[in-house]
Amino acid sequence: MQQLREAAAYLQQQLQDFQPEVGIILGTGLGALVKDVDVQHRFSYADIPHFPVSTVESHSGNLLAGTLAGRRVLVMQGRFHYYEGYTMPQVVFPVRVMKLLGIRHLFVSNAAGGLHPDFEYSDLMLIEDHLHLQPANPLVGPNLDELGPRFPDMLEPYAPGLLHLAEEAAAELGFTQYLRRGVYASLPGPMLETPAEYRYLRTIGADAVGMSTTPEVIAAVHMGLPVLAVSVITDLAAPGKLKRVDIADILRAAAVAEPRLTALFRRVLEKL
Ligand code: HPA
Repeated sequence: MQQLREAAAYLQQQLQDFQPEVGIILGTGLGALVKDVDVQHRFSYADIPHFPVSTVESHSGNLLAGTLAGRRVLVMQGRFHYYEGYTMPQVVFPVRVMKLLGIRHLFVSNAAGGLHPDFEYSDLMLIEDHLHLQPANPLVGPNLDELGPRFPDMLEPYAPGLLHLAEEAAAELGFTQYLRRGVYASLPGPMLETPAEYRYLRTIGADAVGMSTTPEVIAAVHMGLPVLAVSVITDLAAPGKLKRVDIADILRAAAVAEPRLTALFRRVLEKL
């Protein structure tokens, strides 16, 4: 808690009277939204006290403060993954700091493998529920009572109001045909799944699979922070569609979806 407070105090001092409303965490290959942000402050993760530092090449490590679609936003350009070797408290450190700085909504994106047989490359899946299948949990340890309760309820981890706004936004933007809703399963990675693992994940109710997001969402729910999360389907893992994939394929599919994701987030921001 002390470290969180120190990080928040450092940022608050620089931000002065900038009062952030929405925190945004951008996933692999999905950083282009920052081009639309009217940036007022830029912090390298390395300069923020106690902040973990990004190690994945496809993620840059900056926290931006600025305005997007008329809202004051904090944008994490690059996130922390468990597979990089961070502890779960490190993975969720930034979302907790953003909450201490006053955000009232959290938007998250990620790249994910599609398990639902109808999903296609570059579809956007609104996450309506999740399976947290990573080997650790960010809430383990003494509860940080200032942030939230010991046993947070998880009935609605993804705010129904935000899901509704996102569906309205997609309809207005004319790309309902690319918009899905589903259950996101998160595994530790860093390897992709075996065919048997993909079948297993589908059997237990997952529509998409990735290596992120659920830790931050758990920390957000703990703090009572409403979440909108979107998976970009970057590879297809349904039976008959499964192929070998590498990071270049994932980045290509993410790049196709990126403008739609950015438009969706912007439109939802306008509607908040
Ligand atoms: N599995 C796990 N993580 C992923 C995938 C996948 O198929 N695609 C993108 N991230």
